[in-house]
Amino acid sequence: MIKVSPSILSADFVNLERDIRVLAEQGADYVHVDVMDGAFVPNITIGIPVVAAIRRITKLPLDVHLMIERPIRYVEDFCKAGADILTLHVEADTAANTRAALEKIKALGVTPAVSVKPNTRAEAVLPFLDLCGLILVMTVEPGFGGQSFMEDMMPKLRQIRAWIDEKNPCCELEVDGGVNAKTARICRENGANVLVAGSAWFKAADPAAFGRELKA
Ligand code: DX5
Ligand code: ZN
Repeated sequence: MIKVSPSILSADFVNLERDIRVLAEQGADYVHVDVMDGAFVPNITIGIPVVAAIRRITKLPLDVHLMIERPIRYVEDFCKAGADILTLHVEADTAANTRAALEKIKALGVTPAVSVKPNTRAEAVLPFLDLCGLILVMTVEPGFGGQSFMEDMMPKLRQIRAWIDEKNPCCELEVDGGVNAKTARICRENGANVLVAGSAWFKAADPAAFGRELKA
């Protein structure tokens, strides 16, 4: 089953409650929350108190994407704030710390996940695949919404899909960046089952219909 995870980075922050409350009836499966620290990526977004506030207004699973240095420092806080899936970047710390952070997330009853930036090879997820409930392949350079989809990430996506099917078939495979109706199809054909959409979702005249298109 294909799932859609709208990225609230493109929501209207003045009306964040309104924009999030409507997502469930529009057919969203998750709420994608982009956390940026101005160090791992050149942008700063939202943090722990906002995740906790969002938790109070939706029953949809919170798909929290941490684009922060040394995420192990904060994983417990994000789990307690209400994340359901917590994604770390493999580039953000040593392999040992990444593994320790994923174990901590799992022990707190939250789904551990790792993400890879465009220049990171597929192999970088292998040491963590056994622990993860989701792998996120970035199809733009993380940091900003509204960028163009990188189709050259598709061989990486296919390779990771093959490893998931072989080693951890329950693991989900998510793409993030530049997803629209056309690129969603390419992602599905290459093995993704969770599609993040930010600007395309929030710009859509009819987000429910757009969501159905992403899944079609
Ligand atoms: C980028 C973020 C994305 C972003 C996607 O660093 O991780 O989740 O919101 O936005 P679009 O769909 O506009 O590319
Ligand atoms: Zn994201």
